[in-house]
This record gives sequence, structure tokens and C-alpha cells, in this order.
Amino acid sequence: MINFAQLPKGRGAQSDGADTNLAQAPVRQLTSQASTLIIYFSRSGNTEAQAQLASDVLRADRYELVVQQPYPANYAASVARATEERESQQWPILDLSDFPSLDQYQLILLGHPIWAMTPANPMYQFLAQMGQQLANKRVASFSTNAGYGAGDTQIVLNKLTPASTRMLPNYTVHDIELAKTTQAFKQWLQKMVIVK
Ligand SMILES: Cc1cc2nc3c(=O)[nH]c(=O)nc-3n(C[C@H](O)[C@H](O)[C@H](O)COP(=O)(O)O)c2cc1C
Repeated sequence: MINFAQLPKGRGAQSDGADTNLAQAPVRQLTSQASTLIIYFSRSGNTEAQAQLASDVLRADRYELVVQQPYPANYAASVARATEERESQQWPILDLSDFPSLDQYQLILLGHPIWAMTPANPMYQFLAQMGQQLANKRVASFSTNAGYGAGDTQIVLNKLTPASTRMLPNYTVHDIELAKTTQAFKQWLQKMVIVK
């Protein structure tokens, strides 16, 4: 059994491992032209770096999910809180007060870290709450992990979205390999735009 609480905090993120919502305003890059929207959550910056790259490559809009109570900077404390939330199914409350209409978007990219071999709790909560809005859309997810893969991500996303959602293949990357895998990620992004 892997003890994720013992992994170094930040796990290769540019930030110090703290919840990126704690000190910075959430990213709201919303235009009237983009046909792709990236909806993502990132606690320590790895997924945020991927979201930024994806947005640059595809000229996509970005909406960062924020939790009302940010996760602690301490890695072990975050793991403990996430475990408690998952076991009690008390998912974190999101602030979605400025969530945009999805009408203009043809492709939605969902970005999230892997927590306990499944999408991080805030993404789970987002889909439980808003998944119906993804009806009839093409949706693909990208995730970052600490070396153990995307777990059941694809299955969970399918369960939390309507049958009419066209779920495209997930892309996941080991957090410490982010910098050397940008080409592979760019190739995946291009494919998601083309796959109908
Ligand atoms: C609460 C928690 C649980 C985690 N569980 C896993 C896991 O099950 N498998 C894994 O490979 N990495 C796991 N990790 C590591 C993160 O997925 C990885 O560091 C990721 O890149 C963090 O993304 P972020 O910087 O965007 O928050 C976990 C991290 C945290 C904070």
C-alpha cells in the first residue's frame, strides 16, 4: 500500500505545495471566441501548468475550480482531509457563482490531479453538481499523478456525466515528468480537437 502522505509536498510542482487557491485569484480566462473550455482543479500547481499549456496550444478558455475552504499547504494534512471527505462522501463545496454558460464550447477539457487513484475530490464534486451540463458535448480529461496512473478516472467521468456526453480518452502524466513530456501532451491535445 502506497503512503501518499509520505511523498514530498508539492510533488514537483512549481509552487510550494500549497493550494493554489490560497494566495492567488482563481484563473478566469473567458472569451467570446474560444470553442474549447478547460475546467480544472489544481492544489499544488502541476495540473495548473498543464492547463496553461493546453490553453496556449488550443487558444482555449480556462476556468479554475475553487473550493470554499482551501486545502492545507501541508501535504499530509491535505491527504488526511481528502480521505475523510471521500470516506464520508462529504465532498468539498465549490464556489461556482461565476461559472460560464457552456453554449459556445464544442470541446471541454477537464483537468485534475489523481487523488486515491481517482479524480481529485473537487473535480468529483464539480461533476456530481454540474455533469448534466456536459450533455452532448465532447469531453476529454487530463490528469497529473505521482506515478501510479489515472486509476478509475475514465469510469468515474463516464458515471458522472450523461450518456450523451462523448467521453474521449484520458491523458495522464507523472508529475515529475511534466517538463519532458510536453510534446506528447501537445500531440494528445491536437488529437482531441480532431476526434469527433
Ligand atoms: C490528497 C492527495 C492524494 C493523492 N493520491 C494520489 C494517488 O492515488 N496516486 C498518485 O499517483 N498520486 C496521488 N497524489 C499525488 C498527486 O496526484 C500529484 O502530485 C499531482 O500532480 C498533484 O497535482 P496538482 O499539483 O495539480 O495539485 C495525491 C496527492 C494528494 C494531495
